[in-house]
Amino acid sequence: MEQKDNRPILLTGMGGVLGEGLSRGGLLAALQDAPIVLAGRTRPAAWSGSPWVECDLRDATRWARLLEQVQPRAVLYAAALARIDDCEASPELALRVQHEAVQQLGAWSQQEGARLIYVSTDQVFDGLLHGYDESQPVRPLHHYGRSKVLGEQSALASGGAVVRLPLLLGPRVSERQVGADTAAVEAALAGRSLQLFVDEFRAPADPAHFVDAFARLLQGAEVGVFHLAGADWVSRWELADLACGAAGVAHEHRRSSLKDWQGDPRPPHLALSCARAVRELGFQPPDLRQSLARLSEAH
Ligand SMILES: NC(=O)c1ccc[n+]([C@@H]2O[C@H](COP(=O)([O-])OP(=O)(O)OC[C@H]3O[C@@H](n4cnc5c(N)ncnc54)[C@H](OP(=O)(O)O)[C@@H]3O)[C@@H](O)[C@H]2O)c1
Repeated sequence: MEQKDNRPILLTGMGGVLGEGLSRGGLLAALQDAPIVLAGRTRPAAWSGSPWVECDLRDATRWARLLEQVQPRAVLYAAALARIDDCEASPELALRVQHEAVQQLGAWSQQEGARLIYVSTDQVFDGLLHGYDESQPVRPLHHYGRSKVLGEQSALASGGAVVRLPLLLGPRVSERQVGADTAAVEAALAGRSLQLFVDEFRAPADPAHFVDAFARLLQGAEVGVFHLAGADWVSRWELADLACGAAGVAHEHRRSSLKDWQGDPRPPHLALSCARAVRELGFQPPDLRQSLARLSEAH
């Protein structure tokens, strides 16, 4: 008879919009009550009932000790410096969290026979094509994307899986952590008019829809790259318009164009083809309007 593996599943980076969505979507239940442990600098509010250990991933010694203590059978590595401007301001910190801690984890996982699932982003692409499948070469335009590519490479080299996600939807989690839909609705409610690109396209999704795919990956044996994204491709302005419409809030968000953008380069079109996840994980890209309606009901 096959022996049950009672080692826990370790989750990092659950304190933001992704972690809130995975909790709300029922990741615990999808993992069929497998033991889990969360690690991070602060206990994520959305996971208050789950075991949590303090760990700042900048501290390599602490991270190594934590892995030895917890002895996870699988690790969902979602911790990141996930804002593009923060990564430009602190490139070394981004490299430590996005890449070096993953290198360390990869070596440990290989040695101990643990699964590694690395959460990445559509921002590893330059956005010049109108659709990216899992095999397309990456070409990041900024430090956030470059640090994620290095993290992906470390995860893949150690026999792990990489999951690239799109722009995320969801409620506000903290002052700086908020879903793209909620940010637009809150601004409208406060009478603030945002300037939003009409020619920058994304396939946004509520991470609650990713629960089954992540549960499957954490408990399965799949390796390589997977894309999870929404079914609809919309501009930043359209997303705000749809989110405000779903919430029944009038807005005066203004249309702007990437052609007039003076800041750091931004990928214009990020549409992830999720064909592999559909085929191998049973993932169904969620409909944007339905997701927005459900999220606005929940708020
Ligand atoms: N938000 C999006 O639209 C989006 C899109 C595509 C991909 N992603 C990816 O999805 C993942 C989660 O994103 P998110 O937006 O939900 O995250 P977020 O709000 O930026 O939160 C980052 C998470 O990483 C943890 N973290 C950061 N530095 C850490 C450190 N030094 N030590 C320990 N933990 C640390 C934070 O924990 P503490 O609070 O404990 O510091 C927090 O839980 C990231 O890998 C991101 O790249 C996000």
